[in-house]
Amino acid sequence: MASSAKTAAPKAAAAKKAPAAQASGQNARSNAAVNIQPVLGQQNNAPAPTQRYGTVSQRLPIGLDEKTRQASVTGLNQLLADTITLRDMYKKHHWQVVGPTFYQLHLLYDKHYEEQSTLVDAIAERIQILGGVAVAMAHDVAELSSIPRVPRDREEAPVQVSRLLDAHQRLLKNCHEYADTADENGDDGTNDLIVSQLIRTNEMQVWFVSEHVVDSPLIQAK
Ligand SMILES: [Fe+2]
Repeated sequence: MASSAKTAAPKAAAAKKAPAAQASGQNARSNAAVNIQPVLGQQNNAPAPTQRYGTVSQRLPIGLDEKTRQASVTGLNQLLADTITLRDMYKKHHWQVVGPTFYQLHLLYDKHYEEQSTLVDAIAERIQILGGVAVAMAHDVAELSSIPRVPRDREEAPVQVSRLLDAHQRLLKNCHEYADTADENGDDGTNDLIVSQLIRTNEMQVWFVSEHVVDSPLIQAK
């Protein structure tokens, strides 16, 4: 009894489906399920990249020759790596600061972090406009940056400040050099970005941070 019930079931199901299939007739193709599976894992056997890092293209008609673009892109990628590093130093110090100036520095560091983030985007997009490839990932930034490696440890506030001022100064020296090069090559846009945004912002931040390590009396004048 049990085996005949098993064999009867598929037949019954087939008979039930048949009228539906016949009714669909010529519309059978359009009723086929759409394949909604995303095509995954394409990076595992990828074709050549659309552009290699370190090269410049002449895609955009901005009136600058390849030699000028190459020089500007090389300088800007250095400034980008240093600015990303400085931005991240500010967030590290924002989290780890300690002592009686905690609240001041905690807020100031985050403000500077946001300003450095804005600069990061401006530099990276200038590189792309020039036909270059902007450095982006942490491991590449670490290799390229001219700022000495920052320890993972939590440090005293004056050490944090001193470390930040050293990073700002390295970055600013590079800014002056690359602004001059861009000016000599006629790349006014790059020169303007470096002078008007990078130098001005970094100098202002140096002022705000520096005043925290002046040994001035808190209560009674010396
Ligand atoms: Fe925060």
